[in-house]
Order: sequence, then C-alpha cells, then structure tokens
Amino acid sequence: MGSKEHENLLNMIKANAVPTHVAVVPDGNGRWARKRGLPRIAGHRAGIETLKRIVRTAGDIGIPYFTLFAFSTENWKRPEAEVSGLLDLLREYLDSGIEQNRENGVRIRVIGRRQGLSRDLIRAIERAEAETAACDRLNFQVAFNYGGRAEIMDAVNTVCSLIRAGKIAVALDEKDFSSLLYTAGMPDPDLIIRSSGELRLSNFMLWQSAYAEFVSCPLLWPDFSPEEFCSCILEYQRRDRRFGGIKAP
Ligand code: FPP
Repeated sequence: MGSKEHENLLNMIKANAVPTHVAVVPDGNGRWARKRGLPRIAGHRAGIETLKRIVRTAGDIGIPYFTLFAFSTENWKRPEAEVSGLLDLLREYLDSGIEQNRENGVRIRVIGRRQGLSRDLIRAIERAEAETAACDRLNFQVAFNYGGRAEIMDAVNTVCSLIRAGKIAVALDEKDFSSLLYTAGMPDPDLIIRSSGELRLSNFMLWQSAYAEFVSCPLLWPDFSPEEFCSCILEYQRRDRRFGGIKAP
C-alpha cells in the first residue's frame, strides 16, 4: 500500500472514535506454514513480523491499548518443539525489541501466569517491562501463558487468601474484582479481532470481553496487514454499541 493510501486510511479512522483497547487473537500461523511446506514455527516467526507491523500501525492510529494473545494456558498441549519454539520467540522478541519499542513509545507488559516459565524468560519479561515502563504512547500487552478462566480463578483465590487473612470483610463489586485481574488498571477491550476466519474466543479475556465488538478476518495471521487492521477498525466504527441499553432517541 502506498504511503498516501495508508495516510488516507489513518485519517478516515481518526475522524471517528478510535477504540481505546484493541485485542487480537492471531490465528493461522500453522496453516500458513503448512501451505508452504514449512515447520509450524516458521509460521510463528512470520507472525512476529506481522505483529511488529500491526503494533506500529496501532501506535500511528493513536490506539492507547493493544493486546495480543500469543500463548494460551492450553497451548502447552502442542508438540514440545513448537512450545519451546514459541518460548524462544517470546524471549527473542522481548530482548531484541526493547530499543525499537522505546523509540516508538511502546510500553510492554506480559500478562498471564509466570508459573511454568523459565527463570531466563521471566528475567527477559521483567527487563522489557522495566525498560519500557516510562513509555506512554501505546500500552502493548502480550498475553502469554494466559487463560481467561485461569485469570478469573487466580483472582478468586486472591480473594480467598485476603478473606482468610482478615483483610476483606465486605462484598466486592465488579470494579474491585477487575482490579485483581492481570489487566488491573487497563480498560476492557472495545474490539477483539481474530484472524483466519475462526469465530471463537478460545478462553481469551472472558471477563473483559463482556461488551467487546468481535471482528473476524479471513486472512491467516502472517498475511494480516496494516490495511486489514485498518479495515477491522473501520468495521468497528460502523457498529452500534448499546451496552445493553437502547439508542438515544
Ligand atoms: C495461533 O495459530 C497462534 C499461536 C498459538 C501463536 C501466536 C504467536 C505469534 C503471533 C507469534 C509469537 C508472538 C510472540 C510475542 C511470542 P495456530 O498455530 O493455532 O495456527 P493454525 O490454527 O493454523 O494451526
């Protein structure tokens, strides 16, 4: 896409309400690799290049929060080579991306369970988070070893410990509960995009997605482009969000 065309698309989006939080389920890396006779990890590697382009575009649009579902609590069931490849890719992405993310004002946070991750990977996560903590153009959350049910159960168990310790005696409201999730302090996603044509949430942001708009795109994630991302945002802008209410007369 020519840069003029890209600029026009960005301006079209900026003329309307830009979503505060966009979350993505980047599906189809495996099928993309298989079509080319490559190992699945080659699809994930190509997926990282797409990710870098989309993070740049999200920043250019002025989206303040962007979350990517990179590895679920269920993905440990995949073959060992694919799992270790994904763990290595996360470390590579974090280590090699710090400078560029800082230059682009991208604050990185990794959300999900840290149990099961190696000390080296946890160190790389902590380093990327600390070194980008002051960036405030785009908040980028990588959901890794993330499960929506696991997140809710972790919060429930935190509540149980707080009750046992006598630290909470009153009932919680939704705001209190949200503050115990991995996404504490972050707005709920307005828009969830899933590539490869699948129409499932797959245990992603179960609590936070209550009123998210869902857009499915047929492209496999490595083929997903900034233009496609822009057209998903434009589709979101055409939706009528009522949050259970009715349209004002
Ligand atoms: C789903 O496609 C994709 C994943 C489980 C991994 C997503 C990973 C990336 C986008 C790159 C890694 C990013 C980081 C930051 C580590 P699939 O493998 O289920 O594809 P398939 O449905 O075609 O098999």
